[in-house]
Amino acid sequence: MQATLYIIGVGPGDPDLLTIKALNILRRCPVVATPKALANGQSTALAIIQQALPVHEMADKEIIELCFPMKKINLGQEPDPEVLQAWQDAARQIFARISQGRDVAFPTLGDPAIYSTGYYLYATMMEMHLEVRVQFVPGISAMSSCSATTHTPICLGDDMLAVVPATFSDSRLRQILENFDTIVLMKVHRVIDHLISLLTDLNLLDKAMLVERVGMADERVLADLSAINGQVHYFSTIIVRKK
Ligand SMILES: C[S@@+](CC[C@H](N)C(=O)[O-])C[C@H]1O[C@@H](n2cnc3c(N)ncnc32)[C@H](O)[C@@H]1O
Repeated sequence: MQATLYIIGVGPGDPDLLTIKALNILRRCPVVATPKALANGQSTALAIIQQALPVHEMADKEIIELCFPMKKINLGQEPDPEVLQAWQDAARQIFARISQGRDVAFPTLGDPAIYSTGYYLYATMMEMHLEVRVQFVPGISAMSSCSATTHTPICLGDDMLAVVPATFSDSRLRQILENFDTIVLMKVHRVIDHLISLLTDLNLLDKAMLVERVGMADERVLADLSAINGQVHYFSTIIVRKK
């Protein structure tokens, strides 16, 4: 039978938030191809799986660590050559296993539908080998988990929701913050000082909450963003809820 590439959302950090479907597929797959940002760094997706599956089950698997550099991607524009190369290398390494008839799991943080390498990998694989069978498995997104932790609904009634990377230009962010009821800001870590002054300017600072490393051992909820002093972790999300 033809092997399958499973692109699996593993949730934002708490292994209890892996779905039963994700766990069952991960158990069955002989190969786990896991993303990380730095060649000498660790894969958070792999760490989540390792907490959920017994050591002996992991020991039987081939683990391929794939490095995806963190660079800005603008749809419709050619990606950075380093990024393109990483997607192609990943697709090649995975295809080598698929063509041996071995299923491959590609775990990705949160849900693969939200700012995830999973879809870039999928598109690259389809360009190179259209015949490869791919199945997506949804996961619990970081924003859902941040919403649960802070008891903040994401949208109710006729609310309008925007989910955006906080690295947008000042004017674009301003427009979004003015026009939507709930705004989820992701990738906030490099621009946190700018965000705090923008939210202050728009009188929205007291409507914003930041959750850092949700579901992980050192999770932090910051209800008062003005108290942020210095850096926040890359795994940080801000929910601005106006109502
Ligand atoms: C590349 S996006 C991945 C989003 C992911 N696919 C999802 O469904 O949530 C990375 C951003 O997700 C958010 N994020 C991921 N894990 C998180 C966590 N454990 N706690 C808070 N935010 C997290 C942060 O905003 C981070 O900068």
